[in-house]
Amino acid sequence: LIELEHGGAIHAAAEKYRIPPHEWLDLSTGINPNPWPVPPLAMSCWHQLPQVDDGLSEIAAKYYQSENALPVCGSQAAIQALPGLRKASKVGFFAPSYAEHWRAWQRAGHQCLLIHRDEIDQVSPQLDVLVVVNPNNPTGHVVDPATLLNWHAQLSARGGWLLIDEAFMDMTPEYSLSRCSHRENLIVLRSLGKFFGLAGARVGCVLAQQGLLQQLANQLGPWTINHAARTVAKLAMQDEVWQRATKQRLIKDGERLIRLLRQFDLQPHGGTALFQWIRCSDALEIHQALAAQGILTRYFAEPMSIRFGLPLSEDEWHRLEKTLNMIR
Ligand SMILES: Cc1ncc(COP(=O)(O)O)c(C=O)c1O
Repeated sequence: LIELEHGGAIHAAAEKYRIPPHEWLDLSTGINPNPWPVPPLAMSCWHQLPQVDDGLSEIAAKYYQSENALPVCGSQAAIQALPGLRKASKVGFFAPSYAEHWRAWQRAGHQCLLIHRDEIDQVSPQLDVLVVVNPNNPTGHVVDPATLLNWHAQLSARGGWLLIDEAFMDMTPEYSLSRCSHRENLIVLRSLGKFFGLAGARVGCVLAQQGLLQQLANQLGPWTINHAARTVAKLAMQDEVWQRATKQRLIKDGERLIRLLRQFDLQPHGGTALFQWIRCSDALEIHQALAAQGILTRYFAEPMSIRFGLPLSEDEWHRLEKTLNMIR
């Protein structure tokens, strides 16, 4: 049930299928294919050390509507560091999900339990930490805020954490718990890699009580985000015009992807505007047939499934349609 591969591995695919990297259509991630347009940066971004009091935390807190925000070098940095802030704990995870959480807690020596959604009521009294990816990657499943707050209240009453990974939440802020993240023992992770499409900049944010953020900042050390990335993150999070237009565009593109896949008898079981997830027994064959034509998707063995990200241009949409037509 644990998958540690990641999408976006174009070089490995290029080698395996003998197709040069620039010829691929990469649909293997849930990254917005039309990222926030990064302007040329001042030389000082490369020359001066990054400053933690440059306003990024405040801009992030405003964007996420949280009281506090600690910017980190991708939410992955927090995923790896948070397990080091607790003594040996029993930690629960749903599956399938983004497996880096499980790996980080396992590595730090905690006891890790994979739980099924319908077992949560029996299992939760034993847990010290519950990790929820919301919306979930790859299933797109969303847990409603009332349910999460109920789990949080139970865990927090005994000093346990609810850790919510909201990397894919920007399109649906009504489901976010970022506004509640100042509550004790509630931790929310956000990413600039998905909606903003800035995965290469490596910027994410941790939203939690100030004391916990301070402990995490101490653990991570100075200058974890470079000056250029901090500058870009500040501009992107303040660009409300781009954010509104992008939200509308992604909603339309997400619906278009569902329609296109259905046309080829690929009925999504779930997803977000940025990706669609399909369970089917021939997922591997479909993944391989598309890869042979230079279209990279994300294949999951358990449960057998395939995930499609969004094409960008009309040419890319047509290429996907033409190729699905050929292989289905
Ligand atoms: C659910 C989820 N959380 C977190 C991450 C890490 O993202 P980043 O470190 O770019 O913020 C990913 C990346 O794929 C993800 O899918």
